[in-house]
Amino acid sequence: MSGLAIVTGGARGIGEAIVRALLEQGVVERVAVFDLAAGSLAAFGAFPATPIYACDVTDEASVRAAYAAVGEVPTVLVNNAGGGRLDRVADGAEGENDAFDPFGSAESFREMVDLNLTSAHVVTRVIGPELVAGSAICNTASIAGLMPNSLFSYGAAKAGLIHWTKAMAKALAPTSIRVNAVAPGIIRTQLWEAMQPSQDAYDVMIKEIMPMQQDQTPENIADAVAFLCSDRASQITGEVIRIDGGLTLR
Ligand SMILES: NC(=O)c1ccc[n+]([C@@H]2O[C@H](COP(=O)([O-])OP(=O)(O)OC[C@H]3O[C@@H](n4cnc5c(N)ncnc54)[C@H](O)[C@@H]3O)[C@@H](O)[C@H]2O)c1
Repeated sequence: MSGLAIVTGGARGIGEAIVRALLEQGVVERVAVFDLAAGSLAAFGAFPATPIYACDVTDEASVRAAYAAVGEVPTVLVNNAGGGRLDRVADGAEGENDAFDPFGSAESFREMVDLNLTSAHVVTRVIGPELVAGSAICNTASIAGLMPNSLFSYGAAKAGLIHWTKAMAKALAPTSIRVNAVAPGIIRTQLWEAMQPSQDAYDVMIKEIMPMQQDQTPENIADAVAFLCSDRASQITGEVIRIDGGLTLR
């Protein structure tokens, strides 16, 4: 494949690794990142620096402005931005964080669904109608969307994203546009830095819950995304690849 990929939330963490994998594995020639603040990613090897367009993926006008600034139809779209306000646990005041409260406020629930589900629809609604046959969309879901857990709104949003991935795959199949998702396990990005700031506590948790006794890396996730967006996966659509070291087998 050639051309351009648009990766949301690509300024750091899993998204940045996705940008790198798409370039280094030859899935695309160029990448444009949509993230909250404008900037650029450092050059990866022979590739020039990747531009970051300021964009809030929950806001359609903002997505339209960023897309207009790019001025090119991509062959790959990765809806990766997500996460949200999971950080107040770091204060040791779990009850204060709505995300961990089964009876949390409707406002914070909506906020989480907005960022982790509706945003993928918003971005795809803007860019999707222009995609040509052979293009690929990949969504970053989570194992939280596959198994019940204490992140109620986040898990519900990611479960919705998985369902939406399959519905979109079915809808777009006749146009030869593929839609897949990845479901990462646990990766110590800034998301986890905020949730579990102590490395010791994090290590104990990983040993306790991970069948393979280790967490995943951003590169583990990025490799699966690059594969799903490449021509090697040309007959794969509506798939959700778990990259979780067997966690969901428990
Ligand atoms: N880290 C994990 O353990 C884990 C596990 C499963 C799934 N995920 C998912 O992987 C994706 C990437 O997470 P990460 O761990 O790299 O997190 P991260 O917080 O390190 O990176 C998220 C990126 O998204 C951007 N972003 C956030 N809100 C945005 C918005 N409204 N508009 C545009 N950009 C926005 C941030 O600026 C940041 O660059 C998320 O969808 C997350 O839910 C992460």
